[in-house]
Amino acid sequence: MAARTVKLAVIPGDGIGPEVVAEGLKVLSAAAPEHDLAFDTTSYELGARRWHATGETLPDSVEAELRGHEAIFLGAVGDPSVPSGVLERGLLLRLRFAFSHYVNLRPVRLYPGVTTPLADVAPEDIDMLVVREGTEGPYAGMGGVVRKGTPHEIATQDSVNTRFGVERVVRYAFAAAQRRPRRRLTLVHKDNVLSFAGELWQRVVREVGAEYPDVSVDYLHVDAATMFFVSQPQRFDVVVTDNLFGDIITDLGAAVAGGIGLAASGNINPENDFPSMFEPVHGSAPDIAGQGKADPTATILSAAIMLDHLGLEGAARAVERAVAEDLLARAKDGAAERSTAQIGDAIAERVAGQG
Ligand code: NAI
Ligand code: MG
Repeated sequence: MAARTVKLAVIPGDGIGPEVVAEGLKVLSAAAPEHDLAFDTTSYELGARRWHATGETLPDSVEAELRGHEAIFLGAVGDPSVPSGVLERGLLLRLRFAFSHYVNLRPVRLYPGVTTPLADVAPEDIDMLVVREGTEGPYAGMGGVVRKGTPHEIATQDSVNTRFGVERVVRYAFAAAQRRPRRRLTLVHKDNVLSFAGELWQRVVREVGAEYPDVSVDYLHVDAATMFFVSQPQRFDVVVTDNLFGDIITDLGAAVAGGIGLAASGNINPENDFPSMFEPVHGSAPDIAGQGKADPTATILSAAIMLDHLGLEGAARAVERAVAEDLLARAKDGAAERSTAQIGDAIAERVAGQG
């Protein structure tokens, strides 16, 4: 019997989701014996197929079952055959809101051997942690439409910023910054225009920052931040930002750090009142689904974030090391084209050898 059994819910989802999740689970299984772990997994069929078959996105009974797990491991949802927003709002956002995933953690890190489109940038130049608020902002679902379909139609999509919601994510970001060597926090917003919300974020950062005198604080407007992600990625250590800005800048982060196939994330409820959910930043990639072409690395790195969250740091570091070694090997072998499963096999093999 393993010393620790993790009760894990798995949502493979749509498109490449099942392909990359299979490789993530393969790597977790390979890591388990070395770290005296076991994973008790339950897979949930949610996404496009279920919606077509039953009209359901997330039945209440499934939400209740998910709640009983320690973590959720998700591939991606979304399919061209389903109207945009149905699965994103009805499944993904619903889980983030229901399980209070107020921290959307997205590391942006350039691994040695990985090609970046930026000139003269080394791995040590790109090592940041984006802490994106996960439950508020324009994603909260406040707003509406009147006079639809007429020339006088009005659509509003309000950005929700609560003192409570901003403070809890800012506190998380300061604590994260304090644990990192550079101890630097950058608030990204647009307070010159979005002055009500921006001023709240600024004030909270100032007030919470007083409790972290060893963390240096910087502020950037989001448009300037996108420029500096490209021209001076070294300036960023921990970035804290709202839901929408965080969504956008982390795709840019993924692009500068080697592409969407490597970008990992965690939707975290730090208090563990609910299961946290771990998924690659990318979507279901219908253009390459079913062809074994998807890079499972982002999903495997998301599994490492999950292990960290579960307090299994040894296993997390082993998975990260195995990925780092594989990325370096890829750089050396150059053109070697590998399938989704071959990449998963190679990383699983490396992780199995690491205690
Ligand atoms: P996407 O991330 O699925 O794909 C964008 C591009 O990146 C495509 O060319 C795709 O082939 C490529 N790509 C993505 N992941 C890859 C991987 N692991 N390896 C190699 N190439 C990869 O974004 P897109 O096309 O905007 O959205 C497709 C669907 O996914 C939509 O229905 C969208 O709503 C949904 N989506 C779901 C997310 C989630 O479940 N968390 C997140 C983002 C989008
Ligand atoms: Mg996104």
